[in-house]
Amino acid sequence: TVTLHGRHYLRELDFSATDIHHLLDLAADLKAARKAGTERQHLTGRRLALIFEKNSTRTRCAFEVAAADQGATTTFLGPDSSHLGHKESVADTARVLGRMYDGIEYRGFAQDTVTELAAHAGVPVYNGLTDECHPTQSLCDVFTMREHSRKPLEQISFCYLGDARNNTANSLMVMGSLLGMDVRIAAPRELWPDPLIVSECLLLAQDSGARFTLTDQVEEAVRGADYLYTDVWVSMGEDHDRWKERIDLLLPYQINATTMAATGNPDTAFLHCLPALHDRRTDLGAELATEHGLEGLEVTDEVFESPASLVFTQAENRMHTIKAILVATLGSN
Ligand code: CP
Ligand code: NVA
Repeated sequence: TVTLHGRHYLRELDFSATDIHHLLDLAADLKAARKAGTERQHLTGRRLALIFEKNSTRTRCAFEVAAADQGATTTFLGPDSSHLGHKESVADTARVLGRMYDGIEYRGFAQDTVTELAAHAGVPVYNGLTDECHPTQSLCDVFTMREHSRKPLEQISFCYLGDARNNTANSLMVMGSLLGMDVRIAAPRELWPDPLIVSECLLLAQDSGARFTLTDQVEEAVRGADYLYTDVWVSMGEDHDRWKERIDLLLPYQINATTMAATGNPDTAFLHCLPALHDRRTDLGAELATEHGLEGLEVTDEVFESPASLVFTQAENRMHTIKAILVATLGSN
C-alpha cells in the first residue's frame, strides 16, 4: 500500500508513477464523495500556510476550499504581505512557519526557493507554481484526461502547443512521460523545452512505455490526439515587452477550429490550465486585440467556448486533486 504521509510535492518526480496513481484514485473518491454529500474529514485541526508571491485564482481557492472541506484552516500570505524575501530569508521563514503550521504551499519564482523552504520547514511543502514547473496543475491535468476518456492513461495521447519552455509545459511533459502517455509537443524551435527536461522525459519513457514527440510541425503533432492543450504565451514574471515577439513566433501554434479539425479525431477535447486570453473581456485581452488585431491569442474564442472545451471541469478538478495531495500527505486516516 502507498503511503505519502509527510512527503513534499515540489516537482512531479518527487512521486513515483504508483504514488501518482494512488493520488488520482484518491481524488476520484474525494470528488465522488463531495458530489454525493458523503465526504469525510481527514484533516481536522490541521493548519496550512499559503504563500503567494504571484497572483492566483484557482490554486489559492483550490487549497482554501480543499482545506475547509477537510476540516483544516489556512492562512493566506500574499505578495508583499510577509517579510519573506525582503527582511527575512526563506530558511528563517520556513523554520517559523514550520513551528506553527502542518503544511506550506508556495507559489513564486525560483524553484530553488521552494526547495529551500522544504529543506528547512520540517513539514510538507507543496509547489503551487514556480517559473520551472506547476506540479499540482499536471496532477489535475492527467486526472481530467483519465476522468473524461474513461480509459487508462497509457492509452491517451495529448499534444501541447505553444510556449514549451514554461512551467505548465514542463510539468505536463514530465507527468505524461512518467505515466506512459503519448506525449506530443508542438512549438517553434526557439521555444523548445530545456534539453535537460527532454532527456528526463526520454529516460522516463524507457521505463513507462511513454511516446515522446517534440516537433515544430503542428499537423504531424496533433494527428489523432485525444487532447490539445495550450497555455498563455507570456507567463507571470516575464516581461510584458515579450508579447510582440511571442505573437510572431506562436501564432502558427494557436489552437483554433483548423487545429482541432487537423487531429482527424472527432472526439479531441481542449484543455487549458487557465487563465486564457481568448477574447477581449480583460484589460490585457483588449490591449492585445487592439494592438495586434487578434481576437484570440493561444486559443480562439470559438474553441474555448465549444463543447470540446473541458476547461472549467479542469479548473474544478484543481480542487479535488489538491485535496487528494493534502489528505495523502497530512491526513490522519
Ligand atoms: N491554473 C492556475 O494555476 O491558475 P491560477 O493562476 O489562477 O492559480
Ligand atoms: N504559465 C502560466 C501558468 C499560469 C497558471 C504562468 O506561469 O503565468
